[in-house]
Amino acid sequence: MISKCLFPVAGYGTRFLPATKAMPKEMMPIVNKPLIQYGVQEAMDAGMRQIAFVTGRSKRAIEDHFDRTYELEEQISGTKAEENLLEIRQLMQSCTFSYTRQVQMKGLGDAIRTGETLIGDQPFGVILADDLCIGEGKPVLSQMVEIFAKYQCSIVAVEEVPREETEKYGIISGKQLEEGLFIVESMIEKPPAHESPSNHAIIGRYILTPDIFDNLRNLPPGRNGEIQITDALNVQAKKKMVIGYQFKGRRFDCGSLEGFVAATNYFFTQMKPDPPINR
Ligand code: UTP
Repeated sequence: MISKCLFPVAGYGTRFLPATKAMPKEMMPIVNKPLIQYGVQEAMDAGMRQIAFVTGRSKRAIEDHFDRTYELEEQISGTKAEENLLEIRQLMQSCTFSYTRQVQMKGLGDAIRTGETLIGDQPFGVILADDLCIGEGKPVLSQMVEIFAKYQCSIVAVEEVPREETEKYGIISGKQLEEGLFIVESMIEKPPAHESPSNHAIIGRYILTPDIFDNLRNLPPGRNGEIQITDALNVQAKKKMVIGYQFKGRRFDCGSLEGFVAATNYFFTQMKPDPPINR
């Protein structure tokens, strides 16, 4: 039903400098797999096989990751190490990958607007790969596809965060529709605790209807001088066309050092006693 998923990956990743000076943040590995691969796997599991990246300068490693590496693959052909490539090969066979560049890093909203040329006039998923999600029962984007099928409007994944952390997120306010679902009335970007209407924070999973592009086009810069996706979503929220979904599962904020280390520990523990294959 939703065939395309957009990955805005143009951000500078300043919290991970110097690691991200020449390398995309999304290529940082959680154990032996880059963050972006977890994200693309989640999109594919949700039935979105047309993968669209909004990239920027020094992000070429992402394109190379979803392409053949002939010399290397020939070298390891027939060895045990080849098994480590099974998952990425399956993604490459099942999905298509297209790319466009955000020229100036003017914010997440601007990155999503830049992706219009790859998405066109249809609902689409958005994954911020530095939010690594483990769905309970099924992956988080698959959970959201089910909500979309019922309500046919934009869906934002939300998580309850401690009050003192509201200023790191877009925060929703709204009315509960059913267990774990809210009709969003408004969103506010990174409010300090005392101004925050709730502790329901938007995390890096969205399903957006394509009218979001019109809203983004007409938007002035918002908080921090950036084009904010929450401002464009607010236009939809006024028409009661945004749902906040408290997803089932767990999220690691791998854009922060703490979240990155926690995710690494979690995945390494999960993978024992079967760590990546050595020759
Ligand atoms: P972040 O707020 O995490 O920014 O962006 P960042 O640049 O990646 O990281 P820090 O804060 O400097 O460490 C959220 C998502 O939006 C994308 C990022 O790539 C990330 O996936 N983004 C952000 C863009 O694609 N373009 C932008 O102009 C801003």
